[in-house]
Amino acid sequence: VSVSVGILGASGRMGRFVAAELAKGGGASLAAAVVSGESRSLGCDMHELVGLPPSGVLLRPLAPGCFEGCDVVVDFSQPAALAAALPHLGERALVSGTTGLSAEQLAALDDQSRRAPVLWAANFSVGVTLLLELARQAARALPEADVEIVETHHRHKKDAPSGTALALGQAVAAGRGESPALVHGREGITGERPHGPIGMHALRGGDVVGEHTVWLLSEGERISLGHHASSRATFAAGAVRAARFVAGRPARRYQLREVLGLS
Ligand SMILES: NC(=O)c1ccc[n+]([C@@H]2O[C@H](COP(=O)([O-])OP(=O)(O)OC[C@H]3O[C@@H](n4cnc5c(N)ncnc54)[C@H](OP(=O)(O)O)[C@@H]3O)[C@@H](O)[C@H]2O)c1
Repeated sequence: VSVSVGILGASGRMGRFVAAELAKGGGASLAAAVVSGESRSLGCDMHELVGLPPSGVLLRPLAPGCFEGCDVVVDFSQPAALAAALPHLGERALVSGTTGLSAEQLAALDDQSRRAPVLWAANFSVGVTLLLELARQAARALPEADVEIVETHHRHKKDAPSGTALALGQAVAAGRGESPALVHGREGITGERPHGPIGMHALRGGDVVGEHTVWLLSEGERISLGHHASSRATFAAGAVRAARFVAGRPARRYQLREVLGLS
């Protein structure tokens, strides 16, 4: 059975990769493509936007009924767009990769998960899902190590640190049974580094798809655990796989680990 997918953020860097992934077939197909009411892409054919023959699915504004005919909505947009879309989802499943969500917006996802399946992930790659687990284990095995997380992204990225870097920080803290305490960058006479907090450093520039390194620095040795994404196609493939997984399941929050069979 093919799952009908609506894309929120269809004109964006990620939305286009999701459309291209759906066009490969394989159990999920494009049913709606949604953007803002001010989008320059309104009315364009989704497939033509990604260099494919027309699909007949035209980009439409976020409004009541825009996801009609969709089983699942795959969202890579902006926090405000995701918040505005939630009332239009009804009991449709949601797969979201939008980062930079406020505590209130995260709570709204919990609310939605009482009505429908919701899977939010900071990063839809298999490699990062594994890296989260490795970071948790390493932090637990090396309690004395100072941890610093460094991420690099393209110049257009709107939030910092990345959702993935924050998730890595949570994984490290979880490995140590602590709640995450973060230090964002350093400047001036900072004094000696205290042991507890996790250092977070965001580099921005050029066309970098996404790089993350977790450093564990001890006396006499250090470990770095790193991941480099070389194409957004890898995130799109993970998101479409998640969409197929959650469609038709009971309402609750789902984790990407479950989809990938890692938990
Ligand atoms: N979880 C992951 O694996 C992963 C991977 C990569 C990126 N991301 C995250 O995904 C999000 C999108 O990234 P991107 O690089 O694709 O961004 P982008 O290129 O800026 O695309 C944003 C999309 O959101 C749409 N949008 C913006 N405001 C809207 C609104 N009010 N209503 C409806 N649609 C709206 C835009 O449409 P118009 O401007 O045409 O209206 C556009 O299609 C970011 O939060 C990014 O951090 C997550």
